Amino acid sequence: MDVDFFAEKILILDFGSQYTQLIARRVREAKIYCEIHPFNMTLEAIEAFSPKGIILSGGPASIYDTDAPFADAGIFDLGMPVLGICYGMQFMTHLRGGVVAQSGDREYGNATMTIRDDRDLFHGFEKDAEWTVWMSHGDRIDQMPEGFEALAGSKNSPVAAMADTSRRFFGVQFHPEVAHTPEGPKILANFLFHICGCEPSWTMASFVRRTVEAMRAQLGNERVICGLSGGVDSSVTAVLLHEAIGDNLSCILVDNGLLRKGEARKVVEVFQEYYGIDLHLVDASELFLGSLKGVTDPEEKRKIIGREFIRCFEKKAAELGSAKYLAQGTLYPDVIESVSFKGPSATIKSHHNVGGLPEVMNLKLVEPLRELFKDEVREVGIELGLPRELVMRQPFPGPGLAIRILGEITPERLSILREADVIVLDEIKIAGLYEKVWQSFAVLLPVRTVGVMGDERTYEHVIAVRVVDSLDAMTADWSKIPYQVMGRISNRIINSVKGVNRVVYDISSKPPSTIEWE
Ligand code: XMP
Repeated sequence: MDVDFFAEKILILDFGSQYTQLIARRVREAKIYCEIHPFNMTLEAIEAFSPKGIILSGGPASIYDTDAPFADAGIFDLGMPVLGICYGMQFMTHLRGGVVAQSGDREYGNATMTIRDDRDLFHGFEKDAEWTVWMSHGDRIDQMPEGFEALAGSKNSPVAAMADTSRRFFGVQFHPEVAHTPEGPKILANFLFHICGCEPSWTMASFVRRTVEAMRAQLGNERVICGLSGGVDSSVTAVLLHEAIGDNLSCILVDNGLLRKGEARKVVEVFQEYYGIDLHLVDASELFLGSLKGVTDPEEKRKIIGREFIRCFEKKAAELGSAKYLAQGTLYPDVIESVSFKGPSATIKSHHNVGGLPEVMNLKLVEPLRELFKDEVREVGIELGLPRELVMRQPFPGPGLAIRILGEITPERLSILREADVIVLDEIKIAGLYEKVWQSFAVLLPVRTVGVMGDERTYEHVIAVRVVDSLDAMTADWSKIPYQVMGRISNRIINSVKGVNRVVYDISSKPPSTIEWE
């Protein structure tokens, strides 16, 4: 039996840095399980969590601010290794009797650091050599606490890294978690493996094993309902639960008539025919399109779709009998957003496809992916044998094509958009860009333009093509795809989609635009 990842975990206390999630990413990439908790987590809770080491994140505050975040000082008496990063290091210094100097100047950007001690944190590094690190701080360490020694220095931060080796307390002024610190992963790995003595154990295979067991224990013989959209998160949730509880899982796919071409069919093929999951397809196209008739306001569209979705879902669930649980594909970033004390960055996203469902239906939630980042979910999907095409799928909004048809949604306009959308995706795939860009899709505009086809004047629809690069959908840039690819998309749409005589490319970034047009 291999090592249980849950016995090898690291606790990250969040002091509000925009990089806290990155620390977690790096730790997980080193195959160590970790969780982010708010800085004020109680000592009892920390002891109950029982990590092998603690990382104190950076944060925007100065230790001298009146409302500066302080963790429980007891963390230094647990006998556990602690690594303080930036503010975390300053907090450690302040608390242990050192002096943090308030500095008027912010040091921000690349810095050159000289390592003076090549043990522990800098195990495997060349002594006295220079290393590039990323700094972003105002205050700095003026006097280290008793028992600490400087391990490295830079021009602006004489104590760029420090340690009390006997107690296994470490501090770094720079950010090892960001890509601008090229050797950052090695430094973090030294903390995890050499200092905390963790063993790499966080793999998606181990996650699947543990989660399947945990789900069986939690759910017993109860029935679970899962809304399946064909997106990555709900797909992986469904397959994982199916692995755990088999036929006690029932999935519902509501075809709202706003899906892309052939999408509902594909979901049925994979989940019902391949996995043998109890899947119920509710064809509600007419109902949705009926309710959306004449509606042009984007928010109104969203509300109607949300309402009808809940209605359809509830009705089907009632037909299926008494379920106690609703499965949802909540991911770790959503969990962190709701527990972090300030959150890593401003939240713009407020979309939840099944928002309101659990309350309305009086169901308990089961969220097997709530510990995972998106790329980990994809790995789990691969582990469970889901087709790569599905696992690597670009995000698709809950309200579907409704928010990509500007103006009224009619069967004719839906059909135009569906055909154009197939072409955009097809050409993006042919060009090898599908997994490189964040999203690529077509939008149908509410205007007509004049064109000429053969000898005839035309007066027809315009399709906008939207391709964006992004890391998390919070910000996005329009993608600089090759002109040839744009050209092929445009030619194919105009030549084969009846009713379209013009194609334009959207060159707006988010902010101030958004990814979707509505
Ligand atoms: P925006 O348009 O806000 O989109 O820049 C950010 C990301 O969220 C998706 N999106 C939605 N997803 N329901 C969803 O489930 C929605 O109402 C919704 N609106 C936008 C969008 O596709 C992008 O990935």
